[in-house]
Amino acid sequence: MKIIKSIRQMQSWAEQRRGRGKTIGFVPTMGALHEGHHSLMRAARRRCDAVVVSIFVNPAQFGPNEDYARYPRDAKGDAALCRLEKVDILFMPTAEAIYPEGHQTTISVKPLGDGLEGAFRPNHFSGVAAVVAKLFQIVKPQMAFFGQKDYQQTVVIRRLVQDLHFPVKIIVCPTVREKDGLAMSSRNRYLSSEGRRAARVLFKAMQLGRDQIREGKRNAAAVRNEMTRWIRQEPLAKIDYVAITHPETLEEVLHIKGPVVLLLAVRIGKTRLIDNLLLKH
Ligand code: PAF
Repeated sequence: MKIIKSIRQMQSWAEQRRGRGKTIGFVPTMGALHEGHHSLMRAARRRCDAVVVSIFVNPAQFGPNEDYARYPRDAKGDAALCRLEKVDILFMPTAEAIYPEGHQTTISVKPLGDGLEGAFRPNHFSGVAAVVAKLFQIVKPQMAFFGQKDYQQTVVIRRLVQDLHFPVKIIVCPTVREKDGLAMSSRNRYLSSEGRRAARVLFKAMQLGRDQIREGKRNAAAVRNEMTRWIRQEPLAKIDYVAITHPETLEEVLHIKGPVVLLLAVRIGKTRLIDNLLLKH
């Protein structure tokens, strides 16, 4: 595995590969790699000739009072994990290279990026869209792999790719869960043992919602209320939102008739967790 830090070097590696007719599968990450990232790397390996993983904790997608400074960083451990997955290139640019002095360009994907996460993290998706667009320009992948856990992010990125005509196929891979249902996330590392136990409430609430819909409940507000009530029983949990939306437009659904996605954001102490369940019923 080769570690590349320079943008020029990354671009010329990608150009050479593509020149030889090889496909590049790209897994963008912010590091603190876990089993969810591994599943993305394996999916990329299955479908592409070469796998590039990027690690870049993107300052532009964190709000002023968020966890940018304390976001877990473990470059050595992450590199070792990438080696085990037989990643070809680990791309680790600096913030100065990605956002050179005088940088002014922003990308907003609206209204998709305004609601749900966007309502609680105002510039989050502009930051995500900008860095993903930059990384696509640098890594030049034919396919890019994202986890379903960040559901709204996947919808925003699909829109970005369509709107800016990026020749990149977006592959969304299923959320990888712990045995008790908690979605794998780099932020799970923040949880105390008590918090870790309390965090099970997210998956349980989504299972409850799913079961009610499967049993025929069609009033979205009623299902949402049940999920909310369930989460509120957990004293450590504070709800940011519980939503039932259309899977593509992310608009709130009133009457459930087609596919929907259950989305939630819950704070367990200082740790903010998100999760979702796509129901095609
Ligand atoms: O999902 C993430 O880890 C980040 O949002 C991403 C896509 C790497 C952009 O910084």
